[in-house]
Amino acid sequence: MKSKKHIINLVLGMSFATALFVVGCSSTENAAVAKSGAELWGENCVRCHNAPSPTAFGDIQWETIGQHMRIRANLTAVQTDKVVEFLKMAN
Ligand code: HEC
Repeated sequence: MKSKKHIINLVLGMSFATALFVVGCSSTENAAVAKSGAELWGENCVRCHNAPSPTAFGDIQWETIGQHMRIRANLTAVQTDKVVEFLKMAN
């Protein structure tokens, strides 16, 4: 059964993803090749647990969590930086 909090997190996550997508379109980066931090977060951080809300932790904590979860999610350093930047921007 989905909890109310889970749905709120999902809606929040989707609005962040949309906002970043709009910002991303103005850059020359190829979205198919280079995924945004929000996309990487949405795709990778839900595999083992619910994607944590950006507001759940502060900037310093996200730095540390990023390093721990990078190993688990098998992300590159660049991908991890993007996810952490996204989480710090959105918290
Ligand atoms: C392969 C499985 C796996 C993936 C992928 C994964 N996690 Fe986790 N995560 C875990 C496990 C297991 C724990 C609990 C044990 C721990 O904290 O090490 C955890 C715990 C956490 C916690 C709680 C830490 C705390 O101190 O309460 C956060 C936040 C978190 N993960 C964020 C993320 C983020 C962000 C990503 C995406 C980059 C991610 N996780 C991807 C397995 C995963």
